[in-house]
Amino acid sequence: MSKQITVSAPGKLMLLGEHAVVYGRPCIVTAVGQRMRATIELADEPVFQLNTPDVQVVDYKKPMSELGIGDIPKGAKFVEIAIKNFSEKYPIQGGVKVTTSSEFSSQFGFGSSSASTVCIIKALSEATGATLDNKAIFNLSYKTVLDIQGKGSGFDVAAAAFGGTLYFIKGGQTIEPLQTDSLPLIVGYSGIKADTVTIVNQVLEKAKEHPEVIEGIYDNTGKLVEQAKQAVLSKDWQKFGELMNENQKLLEKLEVSINKLDNMILAARKAGAYGAKLSGAGGGDCIITLAPENRIQAVKDGITAAGGQIIDVKINAEGVKIEHDTK
Ligand code: MEV
Repeated sequence: MSKQITVSAPGKLMLLGEHAVVYGRPCIVTAVGQRMRATIELADEPVFQLNTPDVQVVDYKKPMSELGIGDIPKGAKFVEIAIKNFSEKYPIQGGVKVTTSSEFSSQFGFGSSSASTVCIIKALSEATGATLDNKAIFNLSYKTVLDIQGKGSGFDVAAAAFGGTLYFIKGGQTIEPLQTDSLPLIVGYSGIKADTVTIVNQVLEKAKEHPEVIEGIYDNTGKLVEQAKQAVLSKDWQKFGELMNENQKLLEKLEVSINKLDNMILAARKAGAYGAKLSGAGGGDCIITLAPENRIQAVKDGITAAGGQIIDVKINAEGVKIEHDTK
């Protein structure tokens, strides 16, 4: 009987330290309750088959010997290259049939590509008996993301694999869980889809023109992430909020914020938030804000009035896990 395994992995939200983390400074990321799911089945015929209707990939097929070769539809890339990378290390007999689905829109910037990559590696690891631990899953998934994007710190891959809230350094040099169950986070979506790789490249160009200035911004970002780590551990949300505001100033100096995000951030602060900032590469996606209990509704109303959409997000979600296994 063929083995069918369903795996899920959480999306992510960057809390502090974006961009600087690509250049070796630490960041803090949390895994969110919205999950990505993948079901895989090993087949006798050596064919890769994919259905991922969320991104309009239906009945995509190719021989296993041609993985990574030729034109690959955008929505199939991460799954296909993940299978290729896995099978180069742990040979797969026959073929693989994959179906993926998502509880969140790929527009939000919650990291659907990295979460689906982590799902595939975990599912293959179980189906083939390779039983990789989370660090090995991280390593193969991160390689997959780099093969496709060329850039990235891997913070999103770490959130999908390990879950929780993490203090993270590029490439998984440090992946440290932070105990925090009560971060009163509010998330507002700007309605604008950001392209991470394009924005990371823009910042890189800026760094070539003014290396000392940009390195200084990264150093200051790294310092405030260290302080924020202490604030999380002592649940000092006032301090954490102040550091969010400081981080936002540095992101504005990198010129990655846009008017819509600025307006939503100002509205949140005006309504009594401890602090607010963009989350992720900038150029769109979401803002995050922390607010005292008695200001939460006012902050949500402020963000909505500024044109944002409040997204209900549970943080500290569990990392990649097997949902169902008919092995
Ligand atoms: C994008 O969500 C966050 C960046 O720091 C890129 C990365 O860490 O890979 C800009």
